[in-house]
Amino acid sequence: PHLSEILNLHDFEAIARTVLPEKAWAYYSSAADDEITIRENHSAFHRVWFRPRILRDVTKVDWSTTILGHKSSMPLYISATALGKLGHPDGELTLTRAAAKHGVIQMIPTLASCSFDEMVDAAAPGQVQFLQLYVNKDRGVTKRIVQHAEKRGIKGLFITVDAPQLGRREKDMRQKFEAEDPSEVKQAGQGGVDRSQGAARAISSFIDPGLNWSDMSFFKSITNMPLILKGVQCWEDALEAYDMGLAGVVLSNHGGRQLEFARSGIEVLVEVVDKLKEKRGLNFPNEKFQLFVDGGVRRATDVIKAIALGATAVGLGRPFIYAFSSHGQEGVERALQILHDEFEMNMRLLGARNIKEIVPEMVDASNIHLH
Ligand code: FNR
Repeated sequence: PHLSEILNLHDFEAIARTVLPEKAWAYYSSAADDEITIRENHSAFHRVWFRPRILRDVTKVDWSTTILGHKSSMPLYISATALGKLGHPDGELTLTRAAAKHGVIQMIPTLASCSFDEMVDAAAPGQVQFLQLYVNKDRGVTKRIVQHAEKRGIKGLFITVDAPQLGRREKDMRQKFEAEDPSEVKQAGQGGVDRSQGAARAISSFIDPGLNWSDMSFFKSITNMPLILKGVQCWEDALEAYDMGLAGVVLSNHGGRQLEFARSGIEVLVEVVDKLKEKRGLNFPNEKFQLFVDGGVRRATDVIKAIALGATAVGLGRPFIYAFSSHGQEGVERALQILHDEFEMNMRLLGARNIKEIVPEMVDASNIHLH
């Protein structure tokens, strides 16, 4: 279909399913075990309802914000997703270029199909990029990647902590990942691959299951980039990250691809905000310790709910890879434009003229239980 006929982010998924080769669809869409968590990720947003305010002059509304101190046209970013070239020959570069046009931040994945330097070189002057990091058993490799990233101007390091072992994505495991595949990961020196059971397994064998809290001092010693843990799933770990002086956490279950029956990020957000206020007197959103949420975000209303509940921004993964799979860079731009239009309308209907006016009182989250 023509881009103008695509009205929402779900449309891209339906199209991707028909245009992607089976292997790519299996890798992108798959999730752990019986795919309960992936389904819950989006439906959890349905438990939060709005309490809009009326009779405010909403002629002008502004949903721009800052993320880790950097301007973003919307309170969202493009989350790291591996193997972009399974979906489009330009791979992750479609995301880099679309992000530049729309003034949003791209989180570059460790396991990109394009090389790290290609993605940094493709960025517009002043364009902000973050890096998602899988920590190698060989810390020397990790140190080189991190220091190179900092030198190339990356503004935040998101260390993935929910994948000490790969989740079972059976749709993907039924496929074979071929040696000559053009999507092959470009991150050199990460170590051997097992190609017999799907793309995910083939690319992830270097990841260190020994990663632990004491490694945080190692990261602090090798970089000045803000450190954020991606994949925190309870308040206890968010508190630990805060006490260690990290810059924030992403409340995420990896798009339902890791632990099956992990709760959705929006649900975890409620307890994290509650307990960090109780234990450390923090209020959110907070400049010094930022909360991010990802998983199942498909509408601006989803984003607004997370902002109301204390998140600084949210991440989206699959919507953008589905968008480039069918329409390349233009597809990603269309997805961002749809979100932009949804923000404008929904902020007006809510009576919130800017991000600061999206307050906790604007949502009813009483269907989410505290722990
Ligand atoms: C991911 N995600 C991910 N996360 C990460 O830290 N490193 C990675 O290499 C990847 N790769 C990856 C590939 C694919 C195909 C998907 C769908 C996801 C997880 C990603 O960053 C994010 O947490 C989720 O995608 C968010 O959920 P939605 O937006 O896809 O529902």
